[in-house]
Amino acid sequence: MSAKYSIPDQPERYANAKKENNTRYLDITSVYDGSFLKDKRVAVTGANRGLGLEISKVLAEAGAKLVAIVRKSSPELDALKPEEIVSGIDVMNEECTETIKDKVKGGPVDILINNAGYFYEPEETIETINFKEQLKQIDICAVGPLRVAAAFLHADLLQKGSKIVMITSQGGSIEWRFVQNPKGHDYGHHMSKAAANMASVLLAQELKEKEIAVGILHPGFNKTEMTAKYKEIWEVEGAVDPECGAKRVLYETGKLSMETTGKFINCEDGLEIPF
Ligand SMILES: NC(=O)c1ccc[n+]([C@@H]2O[C@H](COP(=O)([O-])OP(=O)(O)OC[C@H]3O[C@@H](n4cnc5c(N)ncnc54)[C@H](OP(=O)(O)O)[C@@H]3O)[C@@H](O)[C@H]2O)c1
Repeated sequence: MSAKYSIPDQPERYANAKKENNTRYLDITSVYDGSFLKDKRVAVTGANRGLGLEISKVLAEAGAKLVAIVRKSSPELDALKPEEIVSGIDVMNEECTETIKDKVKGGPVDILINNAGYFYEPEETIETINFKEQLKQIDICAVGPLRVAAAFLHADLLQKGSKIVMITSQGGSIEWRFVQNPKGHDYGHHMSKAAANMASVLLAQELKEKEIAVGILHPGFNKTEMTAKYKEIWEVEGAVDPECGAKRVLYETGKLSMETTGKFINCEDGLEIPF
C-alpha cells in the first residue's frame, strides 16, 4: 500500500527519495505539464521576488494571464509583462481588501495563489522571544491570505470552479513539531503557519458550496532569501532552486480538486502532511 503521509524528518525524507530514486521528488520536470495553465487567469501574491516570482515566470512560460499582487513590483516581474500588476497591496493592511476590489480590472481569476509570507530572521527561543514579531508573522502569513481571499470573493473575482492555493509550510504542522523541533523554538513562524492552515481548512469548508477548491501546500525547501539563514543545510535537506519549487507548486495546483479541497500537501512528494 502506498504511503498517505510524507516523512516528517526532512533529511530522512530526502535521503529516502534518493534511495528509492523517486523521480517525482527528485525531478519535477518528469511529471510537470503546464498546459492546463494556458490562458488561465492566475493571481499571485508576493510575485515580485522569491518563490512568487518563479511561480510567475513559470506561469508566463505556460501562457497563463498573470495578475501580480505586490507591495512593489521588481524589474524581473515587470519583464514578464503580466496582464495586471496590482501594486500597493500590503496584506497586513486592512484596506487591502478594498484596494484589491478597486484595482483588479480584468474580471474573475481561475486561480488565486496566496504566496506572500514572512519568516522573522533570528531564531526565537524563550530567551529571545519577540511577541511583536510573532503578531507580525501571524498577520502576514495567516490573516493576510484570508484578507486577500476575502477581497477576491467579495468582489466576485473567484467563481464556481476557481481554485485558491494557500502556500503555508510544513512548519505549520503541529504533529511534525515532535520531530522537527526537538527543542522547540521558532514560535512566531510556526504559530503563524499553523493558524494559516486552520484558516485554509475553514475556508475550504465554507467554499464547498460554491465549488471553489482550496489547496494547502508546503512548497518544499527552496533556496530563497527567506531560507538563506539555513544555507549550510540546503544540500543535506534537499533544498531546490525556486524554479523547481514553482513547478512543484503548480503541479499540485493542477491536481487540486473538490475531492482534495482542504488537504495539506507536501509539494516535494505529493503526500499529505498531518495537521
Ligand atoms: N522558501 C522556502 O523554503 C519555504 C518553505 C516553506 C514555506 N515557504 C512559504 O513560501 C512563500 C514564499 O516564500 P519565499 O521563500 O519566496 O519568501 P521570500 O523570498 O522572503 O519572499 C516573500 C514574499 O512575500 C512578500 N511579502 C512579505 N510581507 C508582505 C506583506 N506584508 N504584504 C505583501 N507581501 C508581502 C514579499 O514582498 P516584499 O518584496 O514586498 O517584501 C515577497 O514577495 C511564503 O509564504 C513562505 O512562508 C517557503
